[in-house]
Amino acid sequence: MKSFMVQGTKILATGSAIPSSSLNNDQMSKIVQTSDDWIFSRTGIKERRLLTGYNQSVTNLATMASQKALDKISMDPSEIDLIILATSSPNDLFGSASQIQSQIGAVNAVAFDLTAACSGFVLGLVTASQFLSSGSYRKILVIGADVLSKWIDWSDRSTCILFGDGAGAVILESCPIKDNSILNFQLNTDGNYSDHLSIAYQDEISPHPILNLHQGCFKYVSMNGKEVYKFAVSQVPLSISRCLSSINMSVHDIDWLLLHQANERILKAVAEKLSISSNKIIANLSKYGNTSAASIPLALDEAIQENRISNDDIIVIAGFGAGLTWGTIIMRWKSI
Ligand code: ACO
Repeated sequence: MKSFMVQGTKILATGSAIPSSSLNNDQMSKIVQTSDDWIFSRTGIKERRLLTGYNQSVTNLATMASQKALDKISMDPSEIDLIILATSSPNDLFGSASQIQSQIGAVNAVAFDLTAACSGFVLGLVTASQFLSSGSYRKILVIGADVLSKWIDWSDRSTCILFGDGAGAVILESCPIKDNSILNFQLNTDGNYSDHLSIAYQDEISPHPILNLHQGCFKYVSMNGKEVYKFAVSQVPLSISRCLSSINMSVHDIDWLLLHQANERILKAVAEKLSISSNKIIANLSKYGNTSAASIPLALDEAIQENRISNDDIIVIAGFGAGLTWGTIIMRWKSI
């Protein structure tokens, strides 16, 4: 990371939101041929939350999470300069961030969507920190939110058991460099393997009769589970190691490992490869499954609410997923 930093980044508040409807593994086994034992032993997931109800969308959850973060510090939303919504399940392909800007009353904020699947929150946080460190903006809301339940083939047992819906938000503020929380980051993409995980757009075979133009629609989540597993357990430890070593830190400095909540076996395998004790892993996926871009901010918000994280703790955050895109952030936690 080359940095021309004039300001640091500080987290002011976090918030999260989950739908009220839950579906446990036994209930799942009435929808597809599976069992609690199969799902739990391979993924660590016990239940997930689903956004039910007509016209409910990612913006409902994202707005709720953002409002909770604002309420925690009684912040006037007009103070926010920028909103970044990391999502792969928008309710408008032109972007959903502007709807959140309107719903929370962030009248002075510019707002845009960022699409990077399960790594979306990590890329959103890094993007926001660049705007802060250059001095362009002072206060930024970053949201990770997804409702992949709308994009899942509910007859495909190899994918439908994995995902759940949720949202998490953080409010960031620029600060003196000595108080900076984002110590380093490391980001990667390898598009050669984009087929391993996608929600692909597909043209209809027949074109428009006059224009010879094909139109179509997006399909369901498709995943090569074995390849994604191998990719995550090989590349994530490398990214973390590189990110640590380039600022002369080692795994011994880590207090918390906060990985994208894809699968408990992946979390444990990454920790094991790095020789990090499993009691440093932050995990909540047994309750929510894989909530894609929401998983990291949701787990962070819960860990803070449970008072698990102390001032000056080093948190290693790593996202990985479709793209394939993955990355790491080293954060020094400053109590809020
Ligand atoms: N219930 C019961 N049986 C099932 C289910 C299910 N839900 N799904 C698949 N099976 C069957 C398969 O049909 C197969 O049967 P067969 O041997 O008769 O053909 C058998 O179970 C084994 O299937 P595999 O796909 O080989 O199962 P595997 O042990 O690889 O576990 C899993 C699948 C859990 C998806 C694993 O590959 C994995 O953890 N992959 C990581 C991917 C991941 O976490 N993705 C999340 C999204 S991506 C991201 O966020 C980065």
